[in-house]
Amino acid sequence: MDRREQELLITKLIRALGTSLKNRGIYPATHPQVRNPVEKIHQDLLLFFVDRNELVLVITDGTLVFEGVPIFSLTSSLENFMDRLGRIGVPAIIFDKGLTVGDIDTFVRFLHETREQGLPPKRIQELLEQAGAAHIRVKPMEEEEEDDYAIAHQVYDNAVSVVVSILRDVRMGRIPSGAESEQVVKDMSSMLTRNRDAMLALTLIKNYDEYTYNHSVNVAVLSLAIADAMSLPGETKVDVGVAGLLHDIGKTQLALELIRKPGTLSVKEFEEIKKHPDEGFLLLTKMSHIRPSSAYMVLEHHMRFDKTGYPQPNPEHTVNPNSNIIPVADCYDALTTMRSYQKARYPQQALDIMTKIAGKSLDPEIVSLFVNTMGAYPVGTMVRLNTMEIGVVSGSGRDGEKGRKVVVLFDRDGKPLPCPEQVDLVEGGKATETDQRAILGTVNPNLYPSMPSENLFLSAAPA
Ligand SMILES: [Fe+2]
Ligand SMILES: [Fe+2]
Repeated sequence: MDRREQELLITKLIRALGTSLKNRGIYPATHPQVRNPVEKIHQDLLLFFVDRNELVLVITDGTLVFEGVPIFSLTSSLENFMDRLGRIGVPAIIFDKGLTVGDIDTFVRFLHETREQGLPPKRIQELLEQAGAAHIRVKPMEEEEEDDYAIAHQVYDNAVSVVVSILRDVRMGRIPSGAESEQVVKDMSSMLTRNRDAMLALTLIKNYDEYTYNHSVNVAVLSLAIADAMSLPGETKVDVGVAGLLHDIGKTQLALELIRKPGTLSVKEFEEIKKHPDEGFLLLTKMSHIRPSSAYMVLEHHMRFDKTGYPQPNPEHTVNPNSNIIPVADCYDALTTMRSYQKARYPQQALDIMTKIAGKSLDPEIVSLFVNTMGAYPVGTMVRLNTMEIGVVSGSGRDGEKGRKVVVLFDRDGKPLPCPEQVDLVEGGKATETDQRAILGTVNPNLYPSMPSENLFLSAAPA
């Protein structure tokens, strides 16, 4: 289809949408005058989807714009249609491949029945989804993704506050119910399903003063990602996430100077530290909303795969199912965090180290699953591109359709960009044209001035 044919087709389908909407005010929903235009639109769109996955029509100043060009003058039947879109606040109409007659019908019904005005695009999207229009969106993908990063950030911050309040309660001798932990774990789990990269990117937040708080949330997120990769059922996943969030809760029963002590511990001090899984287990069994499996995962998080850890298990001891997940998440977060006695490893280095210790302290099957799920260039990996620019991986490309993304931080001369820019990389990592970017390899982030990772993914403007 050439551009002219495309424009004709769009004009036709928008007219049909307008007609269906107008007739909906006159005839019942099943009347041919309402129904036929909808079926016609569906047929026309199938032609469009032969060589593309979406049709994006942006609404600017009351006019529909296709690929940057306004496509038609308004006719009387469309005035009503455009007026309705404008009143509701629809900023764009995006038809996705897979669109059904039902989707279009739902959309027309939505336009006909919605009386609210000036709705935010996010709300319109929610209403359309609730009504069942699965292949019609009102926001371009980049905006949705920006929203995802903002929502993931809220979910993360909320989880940190929950950990802060639980640890404070426990230190003061109160026993929290654990209901809030369960809720934030559910939120993190749905955020991982909605946009895994956005949620995982946040585990790179390392706030050194509050090491335990961020560490707890990071371990919860990473444990949930592993539980996802293992396809664990919903409730079990929540148990794993809760155990991740509270795995070090027993440390509240130890002296603060001991937990914060940098460097190596004396034998006596280490004996003290070894008590935290038992203490954690005790606390969790007293919390009314926590299931026993979470408590056991906390008890067993330092036992090691080869059972040489603590509390020392007897040789016949079988750890509870899923108790080997937390140690993998715990190890990854510890390795990628800078401490006063240890520089932070970058994600690929951490995965290499973990592969080496798999079978000893870590469960080899879970490690290999974790390595796979993080991909060749995990989110947060600093990379050099074929353009000689340096950036940080912000999308793992694991979802295929969304592809791998990089936030470019330094230009080809090594100069920091005033405004980091998020770019999509070519599929399969091989650039076919000079302006397409692909990853050449990882670079050592320690060679570059430290970047504020917390704001990195939010401030990156999609290209
Ligand atoms: Fe621990
Ligand atoms: Fe830990």
